[in-house]
Amino acid sequence: MSFLTSCEENDISQQFVINQTSDYVKKTLASDNTGHDWWHIERVCKTAVFIAEKEGADVFKVQLAALLHDIADWKFHEGDDKKNTQVARQWFASLNLDASTVNDVCQIISEVTFKGAGVKVSATSLEAQVVQDADRLDALGAIGIARAFTYGGYKNRPFYDPEQKPTFHQSFDEYKKSQGTTINHFYEKLLLLRERMNTSAGRHLAEKRHAFMEEYLQNFFAEWNCSDLK
Ligand code: ADP
Ligand code: NI
Repeated sequence: MSFLTSCEENDISQQFVINQTSDYVKKTLASDNTGHDWWHIERVCKTAVFIAEKEGADVFKVQLAALLHDIADWKFHEGDDKKNTQVARQWFASLNLDASTVNDVCQIISEVTFKGAGVKVSATSLEAQVVQDADRLDALGAIGIARAFTYGGYKNRPFYDPEQKPTFHQSFDEYKKSQGTTINHFYEKLLLLRERMNTSAGRHLAEKRHAFMEEYLQNFFAEWNCSDLK
């Protein structure tokens, strides 16, 4: 006879799934040095749970999607943006997770990625809105700046070239092929995110991080143009 209520049993099995998934993601992303490492996932998870609790979203599904959202990112899998959900499905199969949860979580994962300034990415559930906000928040502020320059360096891109103007990408394909500078990435993605937050908790957090990036860019251009020499 079990001494646990079905609700407690459910909590324990959900915790088991989360723990197993965390270990799996940690191992899989251990050698990443492109800004998509385990620490990115951990920050996104914490932020997603924080927003989910404020917005009344399903915390279990939000956590699972946050954990797996970059498990096989298109940038490192020949542009294949279906790879994340394929790998997540394989993982869930090994855990025998129920089909309805698997489908919901994979739907969330498929709606997280930014696809270009002119491409609308719909987040069709509250949970997808939460994870999308949490992932985008990690592209903003001090951490966002560090990640952008890490990615630009990894791609051997110049961090700035005044001859190159930012592009407002109209399709995911165009965005995928982009070879732009890291400073242009601020105008092509990072500074657009504040206006595209889904949740009020996300918007609030984005505000401060956005302001920090604006200040950073002001200083960057003052130093670039030597207009701070006095
Ligand atoms: P996320 O992991 O948050 O979904 P991405 O996978 O789009 O974000 O990108 C990972 C990190 O690399 C983000 O901080 C993003 O802003 C940055 N990044 C993506 N593309 C570029 C680029 N072309 N130049 C500089 N940084 C980039
Ligand atoms: Ni991410």
